[in-house]
This record gives sequence, structure tokens and C-alpha cells, in this order.
Amino acid sequence: MMKHLRQQGLSKGTLFSEMQAARKHDANWKAGKTFSLVYYAGEEVSNVAKEAYNLFFHENALNPLAFTSLKKFETEIIAMSASLFHGNEQVVGSLTSGGSESILMAVKAYRDFARKHRPEIEHPEMILPITVHAAFEKAAHYFGVKSVYISVNEQFEVDVEQVRQAINDNTILIVGSAPNYPQGIMDPIEQLGQIAVAHNIPLHIDACLGGFIVPFLQQLGYPLAPFDFSVAGVTSISADIHKYGYGAKGASVILYKDDEYRRCQYFAYADWPGGLFVSPTATGTRPGGAIASAWAVMNYLGVEGYKKLAQQTINTTKKFIEGIQQIQELSILGNPQASIFTVASKEVNIFALADQMEIRGWHMDRQQLPNCLHFMITPAHEHVVEEFIVDLQQSVAEVKANPALVQQGYAAMYGMIGQIPDKSQIQQYILHTLDKEMRL
Ligand SMILES: Cc1ncc(COP(=O)(O)O)c(C=O)c1O
Repeated sequence: MMKHLRQQGLSKGTLFSEMQAARKHDANWKAGKTFSLVYYAGEEVSNVAKEAYNLFFHENALNPLAFTSLKKFETEIIAMSASLFHGNEQVVGSLTSGGSESILMAVKAYRDFARKHRPEIEHPEMILPITVHAAFEKAAHYFGVKSVYISVNEQFEVDVEQVRQAINDNTILIVGSAPNYPQGIMDPIEQLGQIAVAHNIPLHIDACLGGFIVPFLQQLGYPLAPFDFSVAGVTSISADIHKYGYGAKGASVILYKDDEYRRCQYFAYADWPGGLFVSPTATGTRPGGAIASAWAVMNYLGVEGYKKLAQQTINTTKKFIEGIQQIQELSILGNPQASIFTVASKEVNIFALADQMEIRGWHMDRQQLPNCLHFMITPAHEHVVEEFIVDLQQSVAEVKANPALVQQGYAAMYGMIGQIPDKSQIQQYILHTLDKEMRL
């Protein structure tokens, strides 16, 4: 199907009513019905983020000399984040468009660092827990670094002994998550740090998800182990302001222990007819709005504001977990210490359960290896816990009473995919689905 740019523009009224109509079937994040994608700390914080975004809507951080305001915001965001993660004055970094870009940049930096300092390495490798974010696999693919995956123990923490054994002459990087996306579990970062120091290999901590909640939970006295520059061996950290930092989408930091690593992230090209070209990250144009929004929210909330939100979030998480644990057919995987957890079952088909919850208006996130449902809790969920637990109880009963539900909906699709041992076939299938979905 084709669609042409209309000859005459729409009136503002028609335009916005068409847009409002288009969002009618969108996931209802504001009512706490989603467990991923949107991090909402309430109207007050949201309005600060939006106002700051609008104020710098047109500015472009492509050239830091043109907009000294954005340069101030960016350098202060980096410095405040470095301090939050117990870095010293040597810590440097960049602001990126999100967690994936921060991760891509880290892998690129370490690859180029190895090219410079260990030129004998022809086939660089990085050691990754199987639970790291898929962006590392994307980075492996983009930058020609082999990913060496390490399994996790029954608590879903990376097996440290296997990490040690996987190190060889080609290892340029070790990665740990704080916490990981799939189960919300913190890897044993201090132990990974010891290995990194002993072998003189860089250690990246992916705190994209936890970076702006775990430090505040620690400050509130929750016993989460150190994960940042206070741990010997940690050489870089990625942390997303557009997640639990509550800034507008398009803001993450990548921090390095010293500027030699960051220099390897940069790109310069002196032969371009368009002028001398230098760029810190993967993107060219960088939206001023996202940078301004990140700076504004960080300064608006401050430590006390973030601690308050972290407390609210962890209290709500605990209520969810307690409610779920009352349902004997369900269990929580591992020992999640922050605000992300997963639910599995040996007795009911978890995907059929998700289908039933969706009928009741919840947007569910399905995961595999092992099959489970993923939950990321924010302040927006504070008032929906009881409603959720009632719906969950009913859905469990429904799935138990109707075995045929396993043959329907997403449960059937996941069941079918689970039977296919050849992952490349599944990859082709999901690529095809993406292609299809992105058409008119
Ligand atoms: C642990 C972790 N790392 C990286 C990312 C990627 O972040 P983004 O979606 O902003 O690219 C995510 C996203 O959820 C994450 O949870």
C-alpha cells in the first residue's frame, strides 16, 4: 500500500484528534498496566522533563561549541553520574541516545583500545553472562568482537569460575550487569573485579537499568553489593537517565575510568569536504531536548528526590512479590534485590497465563530460557497491586480449568517456537515478522 504526503496540510485540530485516535489501542502505561518501556514518576516530574525538553527542542549537540548550554548540561550530567558511581576526577564519559548506544560505544572503545595496546589480537573476544542485554550481541555483530557466553547459577548470577576459565589471549573485555534485564539479578561484580584486576582486562558494568535506582536503594540501607567504580577493576559503566533517572527518552551515560578509553570511543575524519569531522558517539545530530531534560530532572529530583522514588518503588515491588508468592502455582526466579523480577510456574503454562492477563487489560512481557514473565516496577504501579493480584489469581484458575488455552494466542506461538531447535529459523521468522509489521 502507498501513502502520499498530502497536498494541503491538516488543521491543528484535525491533526491532533487523528493522533489521539491513533493511540487508542496503545499500552496503558500511565495506569500502571505495563511492566516495561515507560518509567513514570508522576505528573510533577514528567512536566519538568517535558518543559526542559521543549525549551531546548531545536538545539543540536552535534557541535558543542555552538550551544554552550548543552555542553554545560552534558558535562555536568557526566560529572554528577561519575560522582554517584563513586568515580574520581579522572572519570570521563559521554551522553548517548540510550542504553544500546552506550553499550555499542563501550564495545567499540574496548575493541579499539585492544587494537592499540594489544595489536597481536586478531580475533577479539568479550566474556558475557548469558543474561546481559542483547545490545552486547548487537555490538559483537557490528564491531566484529566474538561474544563468549557464560551461564548463570540457579540464582541467575553469572558463574564466576567459568568467567575465569573463559579468559584467553584474545579476551579484551569482561561484562557484568547491575542488575540484568531478564531476571533483575545483580551479577557478583566484586568477584568479577578481582578477575579483571588479576588478568588486567577491562570490566564494563551495565547499569543501564539499575544505575539510577540501585545507588539510592543502597543509600536507603538496602543490602545491594557495590557495583560501581568503588569496585577495583571496574573500568566503565553504562547507566540510563531515560529509565529510573526519569528523563525524557534519548539519554544514557557511558562513563570510563580514564580518558584513554573514551578516546577510543571517539571518531575523527580529517578528509571530509564538509569540514574537519569529529564525533563522540554513534549519532551525528544529538537532540538538545533529551540532554536538557536529563539535566533538568536530575537537578529537580536531587539525591533526596531519587531516594523517595526508590523507596516508593521498592515498597511497591515487595507488595507485588508478596502477592505473587501467595499464589502457590507461581514462583519468583532467583533473589531479585531491586525493582525488576520474573515469575515462572511449574504448574501452569506461563504464556497462557499472560494471555489471560492481557484479556484483563495488562500488557505482559514474555521471556524464554527459562519461560517466565518479566516485571519492571515503577511508582506508577503503586495503586494497581491489589487489582493485579486479583486478576492474576483469576487467570491462574482460568488456565488450570481450560487446558485448551495453551493451544491459543501467544501461548500457542511460544509453544511452537519452543519446539524448533534451529535458532536461525526463529531469527528468520522474527525478522520477517518485523518486516511485515513495519509496513502500512
Ligand atoms: C540492562 C539493560 N541494558 C541495556 C538496555 C538497553 O537500553 P535501551 O533500550 O535504552 O537501548 C536495557 C533496556 O532495557 C537494559 O535493561
